[in-house]
Amino acid sequence: MRYGHFDDARGEYLIDRCDIPQSWTNYLGVRDLCTVISHNGGGYTFHKSAEHGRLTRFRPNAVPLDRPGHYVYVRDDESGEYWSLSWQPVGKDLDSARYTVRHGLSYTRFLCEYGGISAEQLLLIPVDDAVQLCAVTVKNDSGRERSLSVFNYLEWSFQHVEIDNQNFQMSLYASGADYADGVIEYDFFYEPWTYHFLAAAFEPDGFDCVRDRFIGPYRTERNPLAVERGACSASSERGGNHCGALHKKLVLAPGASRRLVFVLGVGSRREAGLGARERYAQPGAVDGAMGALKKYWDEKRSVLEINTPHRGMNTMINRWTLYQAETCVVWSRFASFIEVGGRTGLGFRDTAQDVMAVPHTNPAKTRQRLVELLSALTRTGYGLHLFDPADFEPRENPLPEVKLPTVKPAPSRDEIVHGLDDVCADDALWLVASVCEWVKETGRSDFFDHVVAYADGGQGTVYEHLKKILDFTAAQTGAHGVCKGLRADWNDCLNLGGGESAMVSFMHHWALEIFIEAAEFLGRSEDAAHYGALANRVRAACEKTLWDGAWYLRGFTGTGRKIGTRSAEEGRLFLNAQTWAVYSGVASAERRSLCMDAVDEHLFSPYGLHLLWPAFTKPDDEIGYVTRVYPGIKENASIFSHPNPWAVIAECLLGRGGRAMKFYDAILPYNQNDAIEIREAEPYSYCQFVHGRDHSAHGRARHPWLTGSAGWFYTAATKYILGIRPAFEGLVIDPCIPAEWDGFEVVRKWRDATYTIVVANPRHVEKGIETITLNGNPIEGPIPAQPPGSANTVEVVLG
Ligand code: NOJ
Repeated sequence: MRYGHFDDARGEYLIDRCDIPQSWTNYLGVRDLCTVISHNGGGYTFHKSAEHGRLTRFRPNAVPLDRPGHYVYVRDDESGEYWSLSWQPVGKDLDSARYTVRHGLSYTRFLCEYGGISAEQLLLIPVDDAVQLCAVTVKNDSGRERSLSVFNYLEWSFQHVEIDNQNFQMSLYASGADYADGVIEYDFFYEPWTYHFLAAAFEPDGFDCVRDRFIGPYRTERNPLAVERGACSASSERGGNHCGALHKKLVLAPGASRRLVFVLGVGSRREAGLGARERYAQPGAVDGAMGALKKYWDEKRSVLEINTPHRGMNTMINRWTLYQAETCVVWSRFASFIEVGGRTGLGFRDTAQDVMAVPHTNPAKTRQRLVELLSALTRTGYGLHLFDPADFEPRENPLPEVKLPTVKPAPSRDEIVHGLDDVCADDALWLVASVCEWVKETGRSDFFDHVVAYADGGQGTVYEHLKKILDFTAAQTGAHGVCKGLRADWNDCLNLGGGESAMVSFMHHWALEIFIEAAEFLGRSEDAAHYGALANRVRAACEKTLWDGAWYLRGFTGTGRKIGTRSAEEGRLFLNAQTWAVYSGVASAERRSLCMDAVDEHLFSPYGLHLLWPAFTKPDDEIGYVTRVYPGIKENASIFSHPNPWAVIAECLLGRGGRAMKFYDAILPYNQNDAIEIREAEPYSYCQFVHGRDHSAHGRARHPWLTGSAGWFYTAATKYILGIRPAFEGLVIDPCIPAEWDGFEVVRKWRDATYTIVVANPRHVEKGIETITLNGNPIEGPIPAQPPGSANTVEVVLG
């Protein structure tokens, strides 16, 4: 069953059936203001932090899932009938009202045709202006004059999400709202610098600031009293729950249309609201903002454009997967309908991985994130698992030293820096690779000498930070010479403590190899030799103790029991142990193939690869929380999306392009567009996990958008299947594709030059280069960086 399709010509996903079993969301905003919005207009807005900068409210885990939202109602003032421009909240009968939703890159259009009126609600946040625009266009297609009312409605949130959900005897009386000069201003009396506003870029006919006056008693957003009555009640108050509701009456001649623009933002009426009102009252202002947004994304998309025989891959890589990966970098992982802002800041491991995928499209933001991560590294060499970079900065508007019931105090430095008990063994290792990826992309090797303070005092260059990470991991080895699992490794639910994690040792080897390459490039040969010897020892220890005959073990418990061994009843084979044995360069040629064959044989399903097999059914606290999760869900043998691309990469390293594509295709959301009765989630976004075969809902996808899968699939597809990856001194071209492909083309901008790369596959091989020419001249090895501004042609023949 399908609910929409990819509209590549317009660069949108078009939903033409709105009664989807789940909310399909989009992210608006690319800098400081963000709105998470569903195809039903449900969702919320925050400024900078989903935890501390909430503008609009969301009721977590509610029924229905996506309430409240940013709604627009139209009322026929002759008949009194009304509807919303998104299908919900009014929920008109879909036989009489036609609803379509177009999710685009950082904007969403809700289109509605009902009763001879066609209308559009366009939501976007301009690139350089931290306001949300809601542009409503109403057109009279009925052939007779119509008297209509348009209402917009949103519910204000208390500024801090924790305060929005508790201690109401205080928080309910701490904010107020009023209307003047076309602007509703929402203030926080205890925090006198914080205001939010909703401005009308037109002259409104009415307003409500008090939520319950607009909605009315025993009603919901589905049937607000003000809309039913056709008039707001000019309510405003200090204390209570508030809304931003503005009303405009329209009389439209046949064929006539009118656009109304509502502007939501941060700041007081005087300092921000009135100015925003004026800015967006100018003709062309909204269209100008849309044009700038399109340019913003077109420029990003032009850095790497692919054209392959795989249509779904083209659509996803050129647009949706890039968009999802960028979204994770900009907004991190804590603002969705699942993570509703209660946790905020940066997860060390997640951010360190996310930045790796998009240094080419967002070099500035990824650099900022890298510096934030480096600042959250301790002198000992471990990362702070979850931290908020804002906590390292002095507060802009400090509150008095007394404890306030409506404010969550900023933690002290001592509270932020946790000890070894809370260290996740993998966290900091990712950073070694992400720093090097950034330099490989940008050519800015001076970044290695940039000085950054450690979280717990002192400072060092970026290069020194990376050495500390490698040294810390080297010191954390267990009885078998394999790295300790500590609180967890990539798998939050594998809690081995002093037990050992194969994945961390493999990652250690991977990070060492990457660092050695950097040290050699920088001419620091002593370091290259020192860490080279360490890498050899790590590889030898892994090969000696982790091979289980047909695949690699996942590790050892604290009492020395093997995890992921052939004789185990449960948890016999783990995906990450195999993929990382290959990706890290640890596994020998023979073992590489064997372990990945085992993956294909035991973990594959039509919806992707399972994380482990068979599922755990009995709690085993030496292994961790994973054994207490229902079989087939999340880390206990679901198809966890994030590790799937590592299998694609591993197969590419083995030269098996057909199998790499089989793994890529199985979990590709695009391929499930017509199976939504099974998948449920949006087909333009990877989800955190898909229910595994041990669960009754096998194939159902959950937790869209904020998952490392996007970044890693982007990497797997572009750097390993298509095989185009920057190195310190050149652009490597090393594709691994299905044999049936005749070839493909990629346009890649790298270090200010453009490369049009045309790959031909006349002999229908999966991997291997016969010839490469650069601008007609044969070359060997990576393509050296060409002069800035140059346009270059690279012709590659596989064979
Ligand atoms: C989600 C977490 O955000 C991520 O850090 C972790 O790697 C996966 N779960 C797997 O446990």
